[in-house]
Amino acid sequence: MQIAPSMLAADFARLADEADAVAGAADWLHVDVMDGHFVPNLTVGLPVVESLLKHTSLPLDCHLMIEAPDRWAPGYAEAGAGSVTIHLEAAQAPIRTLRNIRAAGARAGLALNPATPVEASAELLHEVDMLLLMTVEPGFGGQPFLDGVLPKLRRARDLVKGRDLAVWLQVDGGVGEENIARCAEAGANVFVAGSAVYAADDPARAVQRLREQAQRAADEG
Ligand code: DX5
Ligand code: ZN
Repeated sequence: MQIAPSMLAADFARLADEADAVAGAADWLHVDVMDGHFVPNLTVGLPVVESLLKHTSLPLDCHLMIEAPDRWAPGYAEAGAGSVTIHLEAAQAPIRTLRNIRAAGARAGLALNPATPVEASAELLHEVDMLLLMTVEPGFGGQPFLDGVLPKLRRARDLVKGRDLAVWLQVDGGVGEENIARCAEAGANVFVAGSAVYAADDPARAVQRLREQAQRAADEG
């Protein structure tokens, strides 16, 4: 069970401090890269990721919500991101790009929007280290979790298990104490949480609580 606080819900003018606030508790820092084209919002890009890498020991989990991931994704891996995730809906040459990410030393992630069937990723699963199922439409933090993605998560788990692959399953969007147990039961093992962590008085404690709940649900399931 791994928890990745999303910096989208943090104070962008104090990113190093916000990273510090979860340093002992989180497994990853999730960085949402948005280009204002693939999604209707604009956040940060490679220069900010490069700076952040100098100020945190947590590995960065870069989620690229951009129109041209084939062009830009390998650069994030070369810069030192621990994981780089591209959207299937945006990639022109997903196999080549996923291989480029791995070749540059990062874990390769593939993200699917809520309306994209998991079966669309079936021929790519052996190229990926992590499959990200969006549980909101990408673009903004603080949106309500889409319960309808849970059956897809179960199908993803079955697909991965059936092929005996070691692909992590990540959920991102609206994840919090109200639904993390259901996500874990359905097969997720990496949980992105923005508001649920950074809107809390004690972000590190919020991460611990999320982890406990996910772990308990997985143990019981
Ligand atoms: C949405 C982003 C998410 C978002 C999660 O497009 O990919 O990572 O920041 O934030 P919350 O947990 O607030 O939904
Ligand atoms: Zn994200």
